[in-house]
Amino acid sequence: MTKFTFTRADFPADFLFGSATSSYQIEGHAFGGAGPTHWDSFAATPGNVVRAENGDTACDHYHRFEEDLDLAAAAGLDCYRFSTSWARVLPEGTGTPNAEGLDFYDRLTDAMLERGLKPCATLYHWELPQPLADLGGWRNRDIGNWFAEFTEVIMGRIGDRMYSVAPINEPWCVGWLSHFLGHHAPGLRDVRATARAMHHVLLAHGRAIEVMRGLGMSNLGAVFNFEWAHPVDNTPEALAAAETYDAIYNRFFLGGVFKGAYPEPALKGLEPHLPKGWQDDFKTITQPVDWCGLNYYTRKVIGPEAGPWPHYAELDGPLPKTQMGWEIYPDGLYQFLTRTAAEYTGDLPLIVTENGMANADVIRDGTVPDPERIAYVDAHLERVRQAISEGVPVEGYFLWSLLDNYEWALGYEKRFGMVHVDFDTLVRTPKASYHALKDALTAR
Ligand code: FCB
Repeated sequence: MTKFTFTRADFPADFLFGSATSSYQIEGHAFGGAGPTHWDSFAATPGNVVRAENGDTACDHYHRFEEDLDLAAAAGLDCYRFSTSWARVLPEGTGTPNAEGLDFYDRLTDAMLERGLKPCATLYHWELPQPLADLGGWRNRDIGNWFAEFTEVIMGRIGDRMYSVAPINEPWCVGWLSHFLGHHAPGLRDVRATARAMHHVLLAHGRAIEVMRGLGMSNLGAVFNFEWAHPVDNTPEALAAAETYDAIYNRFFLGGVFKGAYPEPALKGLEPHLPKGWQDDFKTITQPVDWCGLNYYTRKVIGPEAGPWPHYAELDGPLPKTQMGWEIYPDGLYQFLTRTAAEYTGDLPLIVTENGMANADVIRDGTVPDPERIAYVDAHLERVRQAISEGVPVEGYFLWSLLDNYEWALGYEKRFGMVHVDFDTLVRTPKASYHALKDALTAR
């Protein structure tokens, strides 16, 4: 595919298009006086990250942000979703701010506004300051207060110019992926640590919302990632396994924020490990938000597994896959949009805050053909339109990502950008998907 089947005119007039990035994945953490993070130590430990790569240089966005924002603006995007690095702002995690770090986000914000891009911030996209990780990180209940302090400092500086803010990117990744599966920093495989991290991440979310309300800010949301749980067959065992997967992955965080309750199949394994008095924290966790963000990439085929809780196995699925090995399943986005509105958020605006695919893109004669990405995005946006036509209040779509970047444990190998980055020269080359999106968004 070389062109999208839609133009802006096929969406409601005020529908917002954006691209999403995150600080550690693009900025270059070695620059500007940022403090060490748990991702730096995780990456420095053999076996955790492909080739032990880290975010020291990444895309050098720290020095090249103007060029990058030029690209975003020229694509006809309305919004730019970025994140603020806690360790860049507060190298010790709390205490004395790094003036250079605050100045950077100040300049970045103004550079967005100068280009007509709405700044959409995420406060935390995974690079926890190492001194806080040393104190137990997300396992330590004090993280609610540490995060409130960070929120106050960074939003005290740039909050007056934000279009929207979400405290934490993808609580499931912060909790389960990093503390149960051990795939992300801090790389733990421990059910007790997991239960605490999953709960504290929501507590910190609520504290940050309180702080930002106190600063007089509005348009505050929450960003969750979702994977559709597809039972491998119709046996009661497979259905129960998929239900547990769904509860842990998708319903735990939505339930906490929008219902003040965690789903039973998740509590079955996690409740004994939750901190004492956890129910009392729902007062904070359920602070009203103004929108709900959904990050969606794929589904998982789930079957039952003997052994200890959670009693499920992730199985290989039959659908075409991306460079990540993730099945391409656009229906899942439609299903999550409709289900989230029906069961959790009602009339609250929904935003697709991330969607996209990794592809083994290469430069050929100065161009980067990525027909697969165009087809992927097109199919997902088709399902967004379907949901909108059925009355689901979807108000925006952000492509992950603007640039090829540091894909966490997979290093620089997986290319998610609509702009190709050569990680030796740091030269940016817009891919075919970039040009196609620009045509679709700027068509008259
Ligand atoms: C999401 C993350 C983002 C990126 C994409 C591929 O889970 O938010 O940082 O890694 O996946």
